[in-house]
Amino acid sequence: MPYRAETTLIRMDVQHLQDSQFLPAVAALRRGGLVAFPTETVYGLGANAFDALAVANIFSAKERPANDPLIVHLADQAQLATVARHVTPQMAQIAALFWPGALTLIMQRHPDIPDAVTSGQDTVAVRVPAHPIARQLILLSGMPLAAPSANRFSRPSPTSAAHVLADLSGRVDVVLDGGSTRIGVESTILDLTGTVPTILRPGGVSLEALRVYLPHVVLHSAALHHDARALAPGMLLRHYSPDGEVLLFTGENRAQVDAHMRHLADSLLTEGKRVAILLPDDHAAAYDGLAATVMSLGDDATHAASQLFACLRTLESAQTEVILVRAPHQEGIGLAIWDRLWRAAEGRLVTVAG
Ligand code: TXA
Ligand code: MG
Repeated sequence: MPYRAETTLIRMDVQHLQDSQFLPAVAALRRGGLVAFPTETVYGLGANAFDALAVANIFSAKERPANDPLIVHLADQAQLATVARHVTPQMAQIAALFWPGALTLIMQRHPDIPDAVTSGQDTVAVRVPAHPIARQLILLSGMPLAAPSANRFSRPSPTSAAHVLADLSGRVDVVLDGGSTRIGVESTILDLTGTVPTILRPGGVSLEALRVYLPHVVLHSAALHHDARALAPGMLLRHYSPDGEVLLFTGENRAQVDAHMRHLADSLLTEGKRVAILLPDDHAAAYDGLAATVMSLGDDATHAASQLFACLRTLESAQTEVILVRAPHQEGIGLAIWDRLWRAAEGRLVTVAG
């Protein structure tokens, strides 16, 4: 049986937060319950990071496998000493530069952090979110919050309270509704525990931004998609998948990629399939007159990131059977969009030769 709770939704105005509005959430956290809250990336499903039973409720509610470790969220860098040990000067410097923000750092775990959070590893993932609701919740509850994204396992991450309720209503005590999240893809996960700074998951902070301070930073092979078997625990291929089949198309020449996608869409439509085209930009002219749903993520990569998961959910509720996606450029936040689409496609990548 998954974790059960009567779900209370609390709407909040980020400009006028009142401590009293947080009381039900703080009470739920103190008794080992679950609270969904907005961050600047996606909504998180939080529990007391020091309480192994509360953390177990997260896995139960999400139906998440126990070998997929959680991120611990702090109100500020000063709280770090309670969850991590042996913080190096480099870690402290990067944290000072990017926190609060969409960067998660891997550190040596403090013995007070239970195995349930780290899946038994001796490292812990930590970040300070930039969202005022997340920060105030952590401050008022007085505890670091272990929180994965507030979706059911393998579903697209939630970027609104409605997405959280769609997946977890009846499985979370309190949902704090702060509207749509700004960035829309999860944090970048950076491992500074080895000799080479390594990005385990591209996200809200770009590789280029990290390279300014860490010139030798590399992408982990799993994040580069060279070898699916190299995936770290929890970095499963089947992540972010909507119910329909997703196919990702790439190639040097956009016109040729579009022509290829249109051709395939035509034949799928002839077979009677419900088809959608998803574009990472607003270049949609190649699909004029096509009897398929054509969705654009927006006119630039930042906007595309913020719309990505909502679009996947919309296409899913329209019972789309096949989603043909033109891959974005891998620069800036485009790398994170590429990564999420590749996972939604479960690695089904079509390269159109130019
Ligand atoms: O933006 C975000 O990161 C959001 C918000 C809620 O903060 N959280 C999020 O959490 O995306 P989640 O659980 O969906 O992804 C956490 C990932 C795990 O899947 C795992 O790959 C990685 O963080 N992770 C956690 N602890 C780790 C560790 N000790 N070593 C390596 N990777 C770890
Ligand atoms: Mg997640």
